[in-house]
Amino acid sequence: MNIVVINGSPNKERSATLALTKAFLRGMNETAKFIHTADLQINPCRACYACWMATGGHCVQEDDAISVLEMIRAADLVIWSMPVYCYSAPAQCKALMDRTLCFNKPQMYIGKDGRAHHYGYEDGTKKTVLITSGGLPDITGNFDGLVFQLKHMFGSDTATICCAEGALLMQEDTAEIVKPYLDAVECAGTEYKAGGHILPKTQAILDTPFIPREDYIRNVNSLFEKMKRC
Ligand SMILES: Cc1cc2nc3c(=O)[nH]c(=O)nc-3n(C[C@H](O)[C@H](O)[C@H](O)COP(=O)(O)O)c2cc1C
Repeated sequence: MNIVVINGSPNKERSATLALTKAFLRGMNETAKFIHTADLQINPCRACYACWMATGGHCVQEDDAISVLEMIRAADLVIWSMPVYCYSAPAQCKALMDRTLCFNKPQMYIGKDGRAHHYGYEDGTKKTVLITSGGLPDITGNFDGLVFQLKHMFGSDTATICCAEGALLMQEDTAEIVKPYLDAVECAGTEYKAGGHILPKTQAILDTPFIPREDYIRNVNSLFEKMKRC
């Protein structure tokens, strides 16, 4: 399977989110090509619409996004792996998401969801997974914007893993707390490969924060106090 991982974290290989994505791939027993958006020059979309009017779906800009878009075009599965920033995508990742406009067509239709869509990406055969993490302890209301964006852009069958309490993912002394979640992510990868979706039992684990949020808030607040003192 041709899988492309778009890592939208400026932490690149040290990204907490990427650790989840690698667990998902382990579960799939697949390898992938990794793109680190932080290493690339990705210009914003210029809204010239040349990709719709003149070039048959190809962007006319000359930057690093062009080769990434071609990799996405050729992929069977695209995994968007990114931290949630201000309830949305990190800016460089969002710039790349905007640039996928070239996969769509100007013509519109009313989809099964009752909404108007442009023909193109979201009704195609390419599959999409969103794997994201956030530093806040809430899932509802924190990741809604990002999930909405990805599902509407790339298809309502987009599988999503939204990990709250991300500060626990990379702490040395929290490995035991985090392990059942990482195991569930791996299991999600296996299920996704087998059936194209994550089973409800696994999704329920993925949608549950590691620890009660009052404990998490205490943990993070005291961590920052200690860091300030150093
Ligand atoms: C600019 C900025 C905005 C952020 N906004 C949010 C947010 O809206 N919600 C949240 O839960 N975490 C937010 N965070 C925290 C990151 O999402 C969190 O630390 C994440 O787990 C980092 O993942 P990474 O290591 O893969 O980059 C923000 C962090 C930064 C730097």
